[in-house]
Amino acid sequence: MTLIDPNKIPRHVAVIMDGNGRWAKKRGINRFLGHEKGTEAVREIVRTSREIGIQWLTLYAFSEENWKRSKLEIQALMKLLKRFLKGELKEMQENGIRIQTIGRTHKLPDNTRKILLETIEKTASNKDMVLTLALSYGGRQEIADAIRKIATRIEEGGISANDISEQLISKFMYMPDMPEPDLLIRTSGEYRVSNFLLWQIAYTEIHVTPTLWPDFGKEEYLAAIQDFQGRERRFGACI
Ligand code: IPE
Ligand code: IPE
Ligand code: MG
Repeated sequence: MTLIDPNKIPRHVAVIMDGNGRWAKKRGINRFLGHEKGTEAVREIVRTSREIGIQWLTLYAFSEENWKRSKLEIQALMKLLKRFLKGELKEMQENGIRIQTIGRTHKLPDNTRKILLETIEKTASNKDMVLTLALSYGGRQEIADAIRKIATRIEEGGISANDISEQLISKFMYMPDMPEPDLLIRTSGEYRVSNFLLWQIAYTEIHVTPTLWPDFGKEEYLAAIQDFQGRERRFGACI
């Protein structure tokens, strides 16, 4: 059993859930089954996060670049998303979990968006943990969208170019109230951020594990948090 320090729980954990396809390939089965198994890992990580008192959990579920995948795979992913949202609603309510999204979610199919909006609405008053699903999300797109909104404000005369600061830019991100992640976990052993939360991860601690997402369970999650608890965060200052 991994022991974690209850006084040093990261406030915000972000996860790049990668490796579903490879998990399936290793077993000689269709990659869709890897995604299906991956949703079980999502359930376990959400549950564990809530248990140990994480306040913000952000999951990279579908990137803006993932639209390049086959129509069939995209359909399978949307179906799993809908099934997850419907199947987990009761537990979300019981556990005080609020759902929100980041990304260009207007691009999602109508029926998926409908269930997503319903879930967001139904969980809106939950206060114990915020589960942010990054869907049709890209960090560069988020920054571009923020710049466009800022430019519009300038054109309208609300602000001037001199007002642009880090704080102002942060206010134009998709979820300005979301704190920056303390810990970013990536499964499947890839040492890259794949366009996830580029603005927000400036000082985030990164944990990469070779484990493929469907195999990532509670014990390994706790081990990642334990690893984080041993890090010395300096934010550029000397100690
Ligand atoms: C992550 O698994 C899920 C999504 C990106 C939607 P992948 O589908 O990327 O799995 P690999 O990387 O091919 O193993
Ligand atoms: C990142 O995984 C996106 C998600 C986990 C949703 P990808 O599999 O799409 O990333 P790359 O292609 O390996 O960079
Ligand atoms: Mg991948």
